Amino acid sequence: MNILKITTQAFDDQKPGTSGLRKKVKVFQQDNYLENFVQSVFHVAENIQGQTLVLGGDGRYYNKQAIQIILRMAAANGISKVLVGQNGLLSTPAVSALIRKHNTAGGIILSASHNPGGPDADFGIKFNIQNGGPAPTPFTDAVYEYSQNISSYNIIDTDDIDLNSLGQLNIGDMLVDIIDPVTDYAELMSHLFDFNNIKVMFDSGFSMRFDAMHAITGPYAQEILENRLGAGPCTVINAEPLEDFGGGHPDPNLKHAHELVSLLRNNSQHSFGAASDGDGDRNMILGKNFFVTPSDSLAIMAANAHLLPGYKNGLSGVARSMPTSAAVDRVAEKLGIECYETPTGWKFFGNLLDDNKITLCGEESFGSGSDHVREKDGLWAVLFWLNLIAVKKQSISQIVTDHWARFGQNYYCRHDYEAIDSQIADDLMQHLVDSLDQLQGQSFGNYQIENCDNFSYTDPVDNSVSSNQGIRLLFSDGSRIVYRLSGTGTEGATLRVYIEKYEPDVSQQNGDTQLVLSELIEIANTVAQILTRTGRTTPDVIT
Ligand code: G1P
Ligand code: ZN
Repeated sequence: MNILKITTQAFDDQKPGTSGLRKKVKVFQQDNYLENFVQSVFHVAENIQGQTLVLGGDGRYYNKQAIQIILRMAAANGISKVLVGQNGLLSTPAVSALIRKHNTAGGIILSASHNPGGPDADFGIKFNIQNGGPAPTPFTDAVYEYSQNISSYNIIDTDDIDLNSLGQLNIGDMLVDIIDPVTDYAELMSHLFDFNNIKVMFDSGFSMRFDAMHAITGPYAQEILENRLGAGPCTVINAEPLEDFGGGHPDPNLKHAHELVSLLRNNSQHSFGAASDGDGDRNMILGKNFFVTPSDSLAIMAANAHLLPGYKNGLSGVARSMPTSAAVDRVAEKLGIECYETPTGWKFFGNLLDDNKITLCGEESFGSGSDHVREKDGLWAVLFWLNLIAVKKQSISQIVTDHWARFGQNYYCRHDYEAIDSQIADDLMQHLVDSLDQLQGQSFGNYQIENCDNFSYTDPVDNSVSSNQGIRLLFSDGSRIVYRLSGTGTEGATLRVYIEKYEPDVSQQNGDTQLVLSELIEIANTVAQILTRTGRTTPDVIT
């Protein structure tokens, strides 16, 4: 076995974002760039020598090359076994499930989530720890520190291995076990949900469409929905994972999943539509001509979880990210369980799940999940809704409007301003921070700011503090405006503005969201001086 120690230079811009390192493919293709990051991870992840790792990615451009490099480096760094998805494919939630099921020391996921793929688009890598969840901040900070001074990395000098066929082979002393990406995950889902009940519903003519957006969930959805649940052979559209996602933007929202949206228009023969993103952790839920906001979806899941086999004993608690609407808070209150408000990013749910403080959690950004893994899980959410429809025998819109009647409705939307000059975005946020004292108690038309702050979170399990997590304006009627800068963009800065208004009275509900929120949207724009500072008259994306 020939282990090379290659001398290398550090790259000073490798700082991992919210969930690992995410950059343009061309950046990753620089000599030693990926290798530096991987060696730094192997250095920081103590005691992984002689252990097993999980490895796979969403199939985007550079996935294949990166897998081969990482396998050669894993062998040179004394890893004893790697479970790798066939053809290098694994969804993010499947990696999390595999780490947990096989008790491995962690896993490496290759993905830039919902960002586009291709030679000129994005690539990413992240390390998940033993509990199946993203590495926490101290870990990613340590990886960054090490990568600043790295001088060499270990790699074995060998040819690429064939990842097309299932089975075991060796690289040096390391065993590579090429596994079916779907089997273990599908098995886990079959324990959480009543597959028989869902199958009966499909057998009696229920029709749905699932848009895999030419990303990783295609094979998963085909196996589970079409083969195991009998949903019919054309249920999954854009099923084949492609390196450039067919030129699309694999983000399941109303803008990017427009093909699915049009399939669910009026008079559609389908009762249910769903989509997932590049790496399979996000979800969008549609009824006939009806969009379920991710915040409502989380609240409805929480209110009904006890009806499904995996959650029949009820929930220990729930959590939502701070910008997510407070719809789930109202459910938690009724159920008499705790609702935690965390900063944006899935990693903050990890401790709460590990400590059994919560069973369900979610974010407004089309992500929800439970204690079955330590990532958000797109197909899981789709199966949750399918099971719920099968139990309730109601349409999506009926389920949602019944929920609003019972708990009230949180009108909600998010405005994204993309690729803003970073300095301008930083100044805009600083101006908000500087204005907090003055904003306190201020009135704007019908709305009065009762409280405002720069959100800070103290983890109830390890007491770690995360500050500077977004500006919150809390109004006296329960409305909220939140501002924060994205941690996942790869070009300039993305400003996200979240606007929310609560309407308890059922007779006042079912209004047009943009109309209901129009006054608050004006206030949001004025307070942050969005037009004067950025020159933008409208957001790039409204969800
Ligand atoms: C976005 C979402 C956030 C999610 C993250 C990873 O992060 O807003 O909820 O956890 O992607 O999928 P952001 O770009 O806002 O930092
Ligand atoms: Zn994702």
